[in-house]
Amino acid sequence: MGGMSAVCLILMIGAAVCLAACPCSDPALCDPIQHSRDSEVYVFYVRGKNWKLYDWSKVTTVALFAPYDPELMCFAHSKGARFVLTGDVSVKEIVDPKQRSAWIAGKVNLAKTQYMDGINLDIEQPILPHTPEYYALTGLVKETTEAFHREIPGSQVTFDVAWNPNCVDNRCYNYSAIAELSDFLFVMSYDEQSQIWTECIAGANAPFNQTIAGYQKFINLGIDPKKLVMGVPWYSYDYVCLNLTEDNTCELEKRPFQGAPCSDAVGRQVPYRTIMKQVNSSLTGRLWDNEQKAPFYNYKDNKGKIHQVWYDDPESITLKAIYVKKLGLRGIGMWNGDLLDYSGDPVAQEQTKAMWKALTP
Ligand SMILES: *[C@@H]1O[C@H](CO)[C@@H](O)[C@H](O)[C@H]1NC(C)=O
Ligand SMILES: *[C@@H]1O[C@H](CO)[C@@H](O)[C@H](O)[C@H]1NC(C)=O
Ligand SMILES: *[C@@H]1O[C@H](CO)[C@@H](O)[C@H](O)[C@H]1NC(C)=O
Ligand SMILES: *[C@@H]1O[C@H](CO)[C@@H](O)[C@H](O)[C@H]1NC(C)=O
Repeated sequence: MGGMSAVCLILMIGAAVCLAACPCSDPALCDPIQHSRDSEVYVFYVRGKNWKLYDWSKVTTVALFAPYDPELMCFAHSKGARFVLTGDVSVKEIVDPKQRSAWIAGKVNLAKTQYMDGINLDIEQPILPHTPEYYALTGLVKETTEAFHREIPGSQVTFDVAWNPNCVDNRCYNYSAIAELSDFLFVMSYDEQSQIWTECIAGANAPFNQTIAGYQKFINLGIDPKKLVMGVPWYSYDYVCLNLTEDNTCELEKRPFQGAPCSDAVGRQVPYRTIMKQVNSSLTGRLWDNEQKAPFYNYKDNKGKIHQVWYDDPESITLKAIYVKKLGLRGIGMWNGDLLDYSGDPVAQEQTKAMWKALTP
């Protein structure tokens, strides 16, 4: 762009906002997305340029977990998809309403200067019920939604929640209020073994029954299913087994987490693209656990240690995605869009296509 110029406006609240010249070839692409949608395919973008190869026939919202890429903004808008900021703040710091408003004003300002369409609040902090932080968090969601909707018409404010509302990892929030006061919740139906209360053994990242039960719990709180987007994992957990029995039970090292005796924290998160390069040459190849409805395999590392890897693939994701319709949820999304193999390799291309397809059976 030659001769970049900036236009500064003074808002009614007195703050100045400076808009860089629209970076898109068509200036209309800098307008925020206005239309409402009754279904979502929500993508977290974390790095690079692979977004060019996302399945844009599905994508409705991209959340920015990487440095701002104006090219992505223009492209998303050309596809009618929203492009939103991410927001995290220490909840202790925003108990003071003045600091809260200042934080929100900063985010609205940033969204405007980058021609973005809202914000995803990713605040995963432990908070106990009825503490000042508990009320401050609800206040933050309410005020953020009000500010964005007022300042950027058509914008979207969402909030990320754990796979069930029962104080997972000590995140005891007022979930029904947060759902009511935002556009919708992105339910992170993964890391479901962050607190293992039973035997310390490896299991699925997002077992089918446990995942569905999580949605039932949100709905039982009175939350409208249309306020829930199902988040599925595009990554796996690789566990070192202390012992592997003949029936493939992989015993884990005990590492307590938030009160539970063991946790998936002893595992290592691995992208789906890496899993696909390893599974066929593993000790077992792909196995299927019919109780958890998830694939897994075992392999031996170069030090002779046995590992068990639990992942999600088109089969396990399709089973869950069918429940998006059954439960009447708002849609589906994944952590994250950049974990697939977007190379030109023909086998990888098929696998990547199948993962996108599985989102909307
Ligand atoms: C949650 O927030 C709503 C709305 O502000 C309020 O009516 C309700 O009492 C709160 N629930 C709890 C458990 O604090
Ligand atoms: C490993 O599992 C086998 C079979 O269940 C059992 O006999 C053995 O004692 C276990 N070894 C350890 C180190 O726990
Ligand atoms: C692994 O095996 C499956 C099933 O036989 C096959 O479809 C797939 O192409 C193989 N993957 C790779 C990377 O070769
Ligand atoms: C999963 O839930 C179904 C339906 O409630 C039940 O029949 C089944 O036994 C459950 N499976 C497991 C492994 O808990």
